Amino acid sequence: MNLAVLISGRGSNFSSLVDAQKKGQIGVADIKILISNNASAKGIDYAKKNKIPFFVLSDKEWESEIVNLLKKHKIQLVCLAGFMRIISPELINFMKGWIVNIHPSLLPAFPGLNVHQRVLESKFPFSGCTVHWVDEGVDTGPIIDQRVVPVLKGDDEEKLSSRILKEEHKLYPSVVKKIADGDFVPFFMEEK
Ligand code: GRF
Repeated sequence: MNLAVLISGRGSNFSSLVDAQKKGQIGVADIKILISNNASAKGIDYAKKNKIPFFVLSDKEWESEIVNLLKKHKIQLVCLAGFMRIISPELINFMKGWIVNIHPSLLPAFPGLNVHQRVLESKFPFSGCTVHWVDEGVDTGPIIDQRVVPVLKGDDEEKLSSRILKEEHKLYPSVVKKIADGDFVPFFMEEK
């Protein structure tokens, strides 16, 4: 199964997927390309290091080029990993729903930005991470899998986010493997 990973910045989830593939942990999933909408995204360095072809698309050329790239590389699953751009309905339809995202909260709680700050303010004792299919909303698509992480006394945003990130790095490869194994499909598309 051919994968494209889309990032905008740090790229630690991208790196964890690459590492998982090297260890044979994502089944037949094969990371073919990295796409960034930000030329200075740190994650690009890891693509270079691992000889994974990468492409930077500016906002201007995004709509016209993204489908061409996905077609050219015969991409079957798009993994959003810290990708800070809304996915258009056209792209979702082009991929027939085969787009997943990772989000650092227990969706449907705390979608959107500034997640950890809002979790801490809520005093909720748990947070976590979620991988979900991407639909036309922001962090609203059907949930595939989640991991729960406790919020501890003395947590600040940095401590909580790094505890959650460790779980993200295990959750994303495990979900990608299950999708590649055929355990999950974007069934919600058929209802439209
Ligand atoms: C992660 O917390 C991810 O859940 C969210 O954005 C962050 C990206 O981190 N969507 P990285 O770029 O993968 O390091």
